[in-house]
Amino acid sequence: MCNETTHSPVRDEMVNSDMNRVNFSKIAARYEEHSLVQRSAADVLLKLLDIKKRDCVLDLGCGVGNMAREIRKMTEGRVIGIDCSEGMIKEAVEKSRGLDITFETKGVEELEDLEYTGCFDAIFCNSTFQWFRDPKQAVENCYALLRDGGRIGVQAPARRVYSPNFIEAIEKVKHDLEVGAIFAHFDEPWFFLETADEYRDLFEKCGFGVVLSEIECVGTEHTPEGVFNIFASGAAAGYLNQDFYDVGFGSDYVNSFERIVNDSFVRQADDRGRVLLRFNRIFLVALKAAKKIYHSGVNDYSEEQR
Ligand SMILES: C[S@@+](CC[C@H](N)C(=O)[O-])C[C@H]1O[C@@H](n2cnc3c(N)ncnc32)[C@H](O)[C@@H]1O
Repeated sequence: MCNETTHSPVRDEMVNSDMNRVNFSKIAARYEEHSLVQRSAADVLLKLLDIKKRDCVLDLGCGVGNMAREIRKMTEGRVIGIDCSEGMIKEAVEKSRGLDITFETKGVEELEDLEYTGCFDAIFCNSTFQWFRDPKQAVENCYALLRDGGRIGVQAPARRVYSPNFIEAIEKVKHDLEVGAIFAHFDEPWFFLETADEYRDLFEKCGFGVVLSEIECVGTEHTPEGVFNIFASGAAAGYLNQDFYDVGFGSDYVNSFERIVNDSFVRQADDRGRVLLRFNRIFLVALKAAKKIYHSGVNDYSEEQR
């Protein structure tokens, strides 16, 4: 089982990882099409961040650059996207030809370099924070990258039960006699906190003033196939990544894993064939050297700062 060559699409796309610890490279081509949940949350986060006409903006964990391209339309300032996945950055560069956006293959961990210190008015970080292995270091690095009065907006899945639908499917994997034995060797790579206050504390400890920290339960309806595609556009990059297992596995594991997860999504459908896909999501906006003068409305701060 463990040494077979791969044939499953998910295995081919995610498990044969390149040098990246988090391997999004091979799903890059279809990421934009399938990342519906990430996109709807990104639109909310973008509004919260309230980009101004001359802001210099970093899209941290930019993926294929779709949101960096949206940000490009909002500001005349510099727009930079960084992501640790070479495949995502390659796709971002190709899709952004002719636009003045700089993309770099870099992890947040490598961002202490002087080149960008104090450079940004805003950092946009959507659906990426959960992947950071050292979130405190990541937040400290972001703090250093912002100019005084700059701001960061983070949106990410939150809580151990970040999606009841995905967890239900994973429970089936765990309890499957054959697949469960290998899945027991999976070491979850994600960082989740249970409360909005815990996220607030993390940012405050790094010097930020937090103006918004809320966990929302967001629900959207999809076909089971749509839910599987959403699963493949994010969570599967962890669950089916060999780097997060201490035993090897082959394509039959991946095929069985996919089948169990897919069956679970089919069973979760209502009589109209629709699944209500729920996610717990943290929305956080924080300011560098913020004065605590904000009382209501997440965008109220912007005029005060400028
Ligand atoms: C689910 S995708 C989100 C992409 C994009 N922000 C969006 O909203 O669609 C997560 C991205 O985070 C990137 N990533 C994971 N860990 C990272 C790290 N330590 N530094 C930079 N990027 C990272 C992955 O390569 C992947 O492209």
